Amino acid sequence: MTIKIAIIGAGLMGADHARLIAEDVPGATLQVVCDASLERALKVADDYGAAHALTDPLQAILRDDVDAVLIASPDETHAPLSLAAIEAGKPVLCEKPLSQSSEECLRVIKAEVSAGRQFIQLGFMRRYDQSYREMKSALGRGEIGDAVMMHNFHRNVEAPSNFTGQMAITNSAPHEFDVARFVLDADYTAISVFQPAGIDASRTGAPVFMVVENDKGQLVNIEINNNAAYGYDVRGELVGQKGSVFLNTPIHTTYNTNLTATERYAPDWRPRFAEAYRIQNKAFVEFAKTGKFPAIAANSWDGYCAAIVAEAGVQALVKRERIAITMVDRPNLYAR
Ligand SMILES: NC(=O)c1ccc[n+]([C@@H]2O[C@H](COP(=O)([O-])OP(=O)(O)OC[C@H]3O[C@@H](n4cnc5c(N)ncnc54)[C@H](O)[C@@H]3O)[C@@H](O)[C@H]2O)c1
Repeated sequence: MTIKIAIIGAGLMGADHARLIAEDVPGATLQVVCDASLERALKVADDYGAAHALTDPLQAILRDDVDAVLIASPDETHAPLSLAAIEAGKPVLCEKPLSQSSEECLRVIKAEVSAGRQFIQLGFMRRYDQSYREMKSALGRGEIGDAVMMHNFHRNVEAPSNFTGQMAITNSAPHEFDVARFVLDADYTAISVFQPAGIDASRTGAPVFMVVENDKGQLVNIEINNNAAYGYDVRGELVGQKGSVFLNTPIHTTYNTNLTATERYAPDWRPRFAEAYRIQNKAFVEFAKTGKFPAIAANSWDGYCAAIVAEAGVQALVKRERIAITMVDRPNLYAR
């Protein structure tokens, strides 16, 4: 059985997903590429052999020859399109975040609860990255004792021009909110957000430094710096009572020139997490085939958990104070 996929949003991420589905994920066919720009949809459909190029995402979701939907359009479209796919009874791989609004995440959760099953696999692909998985399993085996802290650094070369100051928290940091919650298996209770002196908080790509507390009393710190200039760089360290696990970036080459050995940074996230995207997308096709939600994938509840800490983070930034995080009860559909 081949799962026919419609990709909605054919920008940087959508085109990469199209390539993966067309070339690297067995059991899936790239059926439709949909983008607000027809030119863009046609280009990506042509590059990766999709049968149809469209501009209307609802039409793409409702087509009889589409079994599953991959949403890679901008953040504000994720929840409305997810709701349309749930209504149509089609599984979704939705890029992060599910929404920047926790209320909107709850609407998606309500739709899944009413349907009595999960449809939304959320694109928090770091859960599939080998370094984070080793970190989590080392903790599970007791190798580093009880976890105490987790340090996270997330740096991009340059923030996109449409990035507001707060998007460091609502668009970039959700990766760290999710993966630290996944590794530590704990929910957040409070967040404090700091910025270096003299920074204009509304400036595109302004750096933020967050300290998040969880219900196990552990501290998670997160630096987001979207104008780091030198390269895409994600670092992390899980500190336990008896040791630590440090994330290494996979480096395939060292350049030896002019009496110097150099390792290079990628310009963006795609090379660093290439394998994670591939495994995530394979898991999604398996989900679409079997209806069995992938064991470690993020779901709509995880999307809500990331959104609520991001909302509290924005408040903490604006008010310059520590903000407590209160969540609604987890519906049984998402019981661990
Ligand atoms: N998982 C990750 O590591 C990761 C990395 C980057 C971006 N993302 C997420 O992926 C999403 C897309 O990011 P991007 O960098 O590819 O952005 P992008 O701007 O490169 O692409 C977005 C595309 O969506 C199209 N579009 C806009 N509104 C649409 C609509 N209503 N219907 C159909 N198409 C529409 C645009 O024309 C554009 O081609 C964002 O939500 C972002 O948060 C995830």
